[in-house]
Amino acid sequence: MRVFIVMSVMCLIILASSWSIGQPIRGNPKEGRAIYGQYCLRCHGNTLDGNGPDAQYLIMRPANFLSQGLLAKADWELILTISNGILFTPMHGFRGTLTDQQMLDVVSYIRSMTPFGADN
Ligand code: HEC
Repeated sequence: MRVFIVMSVMCLIILASSWSIGQPIRGNPKEGRAIYGQYCLRCHGNTLDGNGPDAQYLIMRPANFLSQGLLAKADWELILTISNGILFTPMHGFRGTLTDQQMLDVVSYIRSMTPFGADN
């Protein structure tokens, strides 16, 4: 009986923690998807792998959002990059174009596309 209780509690804890990890981050991924399609897709690609239709014309490859490097970054790091851009690269800043909320939406869309990490 005691084993059963211990097992149930463990299952509950595991369920609860995976549930909290799966929570969307403040932004709205549905909104983010539309924003991504309008502003980011041409470089970062439909599947977020950095192979958008315009990527071939750039001096450097757009970031692959499925990479481990990106998964390791915190949301605020991505927001900072989206907002300010990266100096001397085709990745320009979107401050002024997108609102803070829209940047959060895009980040949660990106996260929703890579929920369990990636294979490359
Ligand atoms: C004109 C092409 C272009 C567009 C449009 C563009 N990006 Fe980028 N982006 C790039 C390139 C190129 C890099 C890689 C720069 C580098 O490697 O230093 C990059 C890098 C990034 C990074 C940094 C990734 C990292 O590893 O830290 C983020 C985040 C990002 N882009 C988000 C976005 C979002 C969100 C949008 C749309 C709102 C967007 N980008 C639109 C070209 C683009």
